[in-house]
Amino acid sequence: MKFQGTDNYVATQDLMLAVNAAITLQRPLLVKGEPGTGKTMLAEEVAAALGMPLLQWHVKSTTKAQQGLYEYDAVSRLRDSQLSGIEGSEKVRDISNYIVRGVLWQAFTADQPVALLIDEIDKADIEFPNDLLREIDRMEFYVYETRELVRAKHRPLVFITSNNEKELPDAFLRRCFFHYIKFPDADTMKRIVDVHFPGLKAELLGAAMKTFYDVRNLPGLKKKPSTSELLDWLKLLLAEDIPLEVLQSQDQKVTVPPLVGALLKNEQDVSLFEKLVFMQRHNR
Ligand SMILES: Nc1ncnc2c1ncn2[C@@H]1O[C@H](COP(=O)(O)OP(=O)(O)O)[C@@H](O)[C@H]1O
Ligand SMILES: [Mg+2]
Repeated sequence: MKFQGTDNYVATQDLMLAVNAAITLQRPLLVKGEPGTGKTMLAEEVAAALGMPLLQWHVKSTTKAQQGLYEYDAVSRLRDSQLSGIEGSEKVRDISNYIVRGVLWQAFTADQPVALLIDEIDKADIEFPNDLLREIDRMEFYVYETRELVRAKHRPLVFITSNNEKELPDAFLRRCFFHYIKFPDADTMKRIVDVHFPGLKAELLGAAMKTFYDVRNLPGLKKKPSTSELLDWLKLLLAEDIPLEVLQSQDQKVTVPPLVGALLKNEQDVSLFEKLVFMQRHNR
């Protein structure tokens, strides 16, 4: 099992190395990086390339670790007990009918090895990663209600992503293989764009990339635009048929790009950029 990138996903050498290291070590791959640098997509593409089904767990601020294992649906049980006659009471008596299996349980008991994505783990509270340590380590957990031990038939290939909003506990980090997806350099970015817009005219791409990196490198931005923003913006440029001249300024000065709302997502950043353009125009 070796991951080598796919037709839809551009993986740099060090990213491929990291994926394969995690596979070899049988440890979760913890992927960090700015939003929009392809963390979620990595899991989807690795799973597809290795022919594994992908189970996804999208973490929110309210997500609890237990939900990934199982939940006991007491409400349904109560309702059933009130509504059911004699024949229904059989079901009510057996608590296992009201145990709802979470993603980890599904991953552990799948018939074939699967990939498991725990997406944006930093969204949940600090206890969340700690609460999953044992399950991730031992690949088993105990269901108290039914007194059964759920153990992984096959070790799932685990991807964990983080946007770095919170620090993760040391004990958790120790169990992962870590990779930071650096923001793509211009060459890698060209390859990524080519995947999404094959045959894009080189001049347009060059001009758009220059503008994009100009915007991105502006010091003091609150939110730098990332890969997915560049792709959105290119899509708009093509859809609106924006002529090349609009992107290229004659005098090498920065201009406010058309459809800048695809790149900059808050008013401070837009006004910062406008200020820069204004200053450049006035003190040449
Ligand atoms: N290496 C890459 N190859 C191809 N497309 C990419 C790559 N990185 C990012 N993208 C594009 O950017 C979008 C956002 O990626 P996503 O995985 O959602 O980012 P993240 O999870 O890091 O926020 C993807 O849908 C894809 O279109
Ligand atoms: Mg994501």
